[in-house]
Amino acid sequence: MAKAGDIGTRIAALREEIRHHNYRYHVLDDPEIPDIEYDRLMRELQGLEEVHPELVTPDSPTQRVGAEPVAAFGTVEHRVPMLSLDNAFSDEELQSFDRRVREKLEREEGEVVEYAAEPKLDGAAVSLLYEAGVLVRGATRGDGRIGEDITHNIRTIDGVPLRLRGSGYPGVIEVRGEVFMPREGFRAYNEEAAKTGGKLFVNPRNAAAGSLRQLDPKLTAQRPLDIYLYGVGYVEGDDVGASHSETLDRLQGWGLKTCPERRVVSGVDGCKAYYDDIAGKRDGLPYDIDGVVYKVNRISEQRELGFVSRAPRWAIAHKFPAQEELTVVRAIEFQVGRTGALTPVARLEPVFVGGVTVSNATLHNIDELHRKDVRVGDTVIVRRAGDVIPEVVGVIADRRPKGARKVGLPKKCPVCDSAVTREEGEAVARCTGGLVCAAQRIEALKHFVSRRAMDIEGFGAKLVEQLVSLDRLHTPADIYTLTRDELAGLERMGEKSAENLLESIEKSKSTTFSRFLFALGVRDVGEATAMSLAGHFGNLQALQSADEPALLEVADVGPVVASRIKAFFSESHNLDVIRELQRSGVTWEEREVAASNTDGKLAGQTFVLTGTLSGMTRDQAKDLIVSMGGKVTGSVSAKTSYVVAGDKPGSKLKKAEDLGVTVLTEDELRSIISD
Ligand code: IVH
Repeated sequence: MAKAGDIGTRIAALREEIRHHNYRYHVLDDPEIPDIEYDRLMRELQGLEEVHPELVTPDSPTQRVGAEPVAAFGTVEHRVPMLSLDNAFSDEELQSFDRRVREKLEREEGEVVEYAAEPKLDGAAVSLLYEAGVLVRGATRGDGRIGEDITHNIRTIDGVPLRLRGSGYPGVIEVRGEVFMPREGFRAYNEEAAKTGGKLFVNPRNAAAGSLRQLDPKLTAQRPLDIYLYGVGYVEGDDVGASHSETLDRLQGWGLKTCPERRVVSGVDGCKAYYDDIAGKRDGLPYDIDGVVYKVNRISEQRELGFVSRAPRWAIAHKFPAQEELTVVRAIEFQVGRTGALTPVARLEPVFVGGVTVSNATLHNIDELHRKDVRVGDTVIVRRAGDVIPEVVGVIADRRPKGARKVGLPKKCPVCDSAVTREEGEAVARCTGGLVCAAQRIEALKHFVSRRAMDIEGFGAKLVEQLVSLDRLHTPADIYTLTRDELAGLERMGEKSAENLLESIEKSKSTTFSRFLFALGVRDVGEATAMSLAGHFGNLQALQSADEPALLEVADVGPVVASRIKAFFSESHNLDVIRELQRSGVTWEEREVAASNTDGKLAGQTFVLTGTLSGMTRDQAKDLIVSMGGKVTGSVSAKTSYVVAGDKPGSKLKKAEDLGVTVLTEDELRSIISD
């Protein structure tokens, strides 16, 4: 049995080591050991503390979620008030801020002020109190003077050290910063909540604030929260650094996280350049920000400048244009896609948000529409962030006009009047009109002519739309009946382009079985599946007459895809289109696929696959090669005919090169198979 003294030493060493790795991981973002090793250290410490509860201390890394739920939040009076910031919404407002600063500091003309610049994080402001290096209290900002005691929740945030690192920190120090929910965590959290029927958060800011106000710390511990510290409040003893940037450097050294995007800049020009730089990076940052903050860097100058009412004269928030705005829903309509999927779209009172005027916003699908319960006349929050399509975030419930009615799923397609169905367990409702529906037709035709399908050069989306609206294209087969005069007579089309287009249409007639299959646009049959099917069955007749068990033999064809294929070929109008296409001269090479395949195109050839393929799985590639009579083996030898190298190929590539074996790219393999 180990002596208690030895165990105490081991516990102390483990805590020290775990704190070190916390610092590497959370503060420096540069872990030294894999997670599994970290978990092992944690488990060892937990084990020892379980056997020796008398050795547990509140600052032990194991003590994050220990606390019992509180009945209500206690209050905390901030010894130094937590102020807010004035805002600048334009370069002019930033300039007048800088002018006021320079005047008050009696700077000469042309003499610039040094600013500490940092992102304005979109979360919840908190205060953390450390005594003798140990976290003793966490509080919300509240009204700036009195906040709520959320120590039990703050402790659950892994980025918050329970004990400061190193030495030299003041005996009592209160630091301030922003708790936020990183976007990825927010997305994952909401995805999970949607699955389990839990409450969704509107945005990461609400998620952070809501999570901090849980009475039970176990709930907070499940929320992916993080923190950046951006200042100090009450400090016992001397200043912590002569400048703001130095203060943050010191906090970081003590294990407190600061924002990696913070910089020191010179004068108003430096501020503007920083603003532009961060605005450019904004969409790629892992957390939400709503602007940047500039703070006069020298603490002595901050003192000289002082405060006005509730905001310092030495700092300002330079805000980005809002990404969320309020507007009113004028109508809710349903758009129809290629596979007939109905997407509800809110038509909005135009509103300027995220830098553009938005008048439509997606509601994704009918479940989403009902979950958000958006109705015509509602005032809604519209969000447009970066290049993301605008979406309705939520409804302002108490602004709903009287009599606003719930929007139901239409029974008939708004474009073609065919019935709308919704399969069991599917979020998506679909129009059953198929190619009868103009909306589906347009999308299906665009797909048919596209590069990886029939590859009709010059047949663009606009032309498809034009011809459908003229009622000239009903099915893909109609493409092959277009005449030169007809085409030349279209808007924005000359003799020469009509000529070229006819030539590409003619050229597309000689195709491959797999391209043709892909072009048909059978639901869930992508390019790779089309290739597998073509390789496996060899000819249209064999595929058309295959029953579901036969289809299931093909790599990557599961029950859903098999039933889609079956359904497609049992629709007489689909068979009509195929027949017409063939009659117009669309042809491809057909093969009998014999059981042994000795006469397959790749008979006698041996392939080795290495690396990741992008357009198909390795199993699919293997199935294709085998279906054409080839062999796939695991190792390269002088007998290997080809090595197919995908992304990050292994040592097999090197071996192939050494032995002089032909190396193919994925595209080269594709063309061997499909030609
Ligand atoms: S400094 C006296 N720095 O913005 C200075 N605030 O209206 C007080 N905020 O409630 C704050 N990022 O939660 C500062 N880098 C940053 C910030 C920041 C976000 C929030 C903070 C405060 C509000 C100020």
